[in-house]
Amino acid sequence: MDKIVINGGGRLEGEIRVFGAKNAALPILCASLLTDTPTTLRHVPQLSDVKTMGKLLRELGCQVEGERAVTIDPRGVAQGSLMAPYELVKTMRASVTVMGPLLARYGKAEISLPGGCAIGARPIDQHLRGLEALGAEIEMHHGYVELRAKRLRGARFVFDLVTVGGTQNVMMAATLARGTTRLENVAREPEVQDLAVVLNKMGARIRGAGTSVIEIEGVDNLTGIDHAILPDRIEAGTFAVAAAITKGDVLLRDAPVDHMHAVISKLEEAGVRCLVGPHGLRVIGPEVLQPIDVVTRPHPGFPTDMQAQMMVLATMADGQSMVTETIFENRFMHVPELCRLGANIQVNGNAAVIRGPTDYSGTTVMATDLRASASLVLAGLVAKGTTEVRRVYHLDRGYETIEKRLRPLGANIERIHGASS
Ligand code: UD1
Repeated sequence: MDKIVINGGGRLEGEIRVFGAKNAALPILCASLLTDTPTTLRHVPQLSDVKTMGKLLRELGCQVEGERAVTIDPRGVAQGSLMAPYELVKTMRASVTVMGPLLARYGKAEISLPGGCAIGARPIDQHLRGLEALGAEIEMHHGYVELRAKRLRGARFVFDLVTVGGTQNVMMAATLARGTTRLENVAREPEVQDLAVVLNKMGARIRGAGTSVIEIEGVDNLTGIDHAILPDRIEAGTFAVAAAITKGDVLLRDAPVDHMHAVISKLEEAGVRCLVGPHGLRVIGPEVLQPIDVVTRPHPGFPTDMQAQMMVLATMADGQSMVTETIFENRFMHVPELCRLGANIQVNGNAAVIRGPTDYSGTTVMATDLRASASLVLAGLVAKGTTEVRRVYHLDRGYETIEKRLRPLGANIERIHGASS
């Protein structure tokens, strides 16, 4: 297993390009299943989650070719199993997003139940209830859920809670339903909007994506398209924190600033200068960071996927900060590792009290999930001495060659291949 080794203390300076968004690419790859002709996606990030989705699409009968520009030809799916197996769903929960498209286009889908994962139970009850409202018949057996419907029919459905994947799954299914669907209390994340843009390009009739109500007028068929994935707001936010805590000055080229208001305003509250320009976002770290209070919320609130990284910023601030996680249970697994590096963080239920500033000192730490890994890399950038981050396969799910891209900014960071865990 690879590890990342960082010698901290340097100031980051220069320019870094933000790559395509993982959370936009994954559902859009699934959307290609709704069509009858090939789709080409550009700016696809080279991440292990994207590779896993490619593998799943191939198992379903698609031809998937290319890397940065990926073409998916779904014409072999009709002969396939219409099944997402446990081996793939367990490594990537977003695999369940093939459910809506398969059901709508082929009348059947069989998906392994995702089960628990490192950041909480993460059920899919809302996906299933939404699809049931559209007329799906659902059966559970041997850890799999099987859905069937001759043709889905439009319906009104109100989500009990805001779910990104649930909104995407049901919205995709409704594109090919007979009649109109009205989805209420939907997720407003930019990745839901981008998916709606893609589906409309394919010939769907969706209104309201980006608000809390989405209306979909069903159509008979959709066709493949060409689309560029939007840049990753979470990757951009992570690099912004890296610049901020190293007292750096970094231009995040192509940062999707319109989708980053909550993160930018927290950075500004901490005293970080954020300059929005035609090429992206320039982030300038202050001499002294101010403490902040962060509460994670569905978009446009503060994203849970930036919680761990912003906590590192809070540990560097002069005073007491508080971070409250309201989206996922058990999403503080980075805390014990950050404490081993020297942070003073106390967790009580879903709230963490952070006392800074921290004098981080490098040691060996273990990545536990994707964003937790990012927070350990960030802490490593400011730690005295050497920090070794192990189990970086978590990091590789969401950040493409992070070490190669941070190095030109002045970071002393490298990957050691094949190290023991
Ligand atoms: C997506 C993102 C993930 C992000 C999360 C929240 C992708 C591939 N992943 O995950 O990076 O952290 O949104 O912004 O886009 N829930 C239920 N029942 C359901 C569905 C969800 O109770 O049927 C709960 C979950 O357990 C969680 C909350 O709702 O507590 C939000 O989950 P959801 O928005 O669905 O997250 P994902 O789509 O899995």
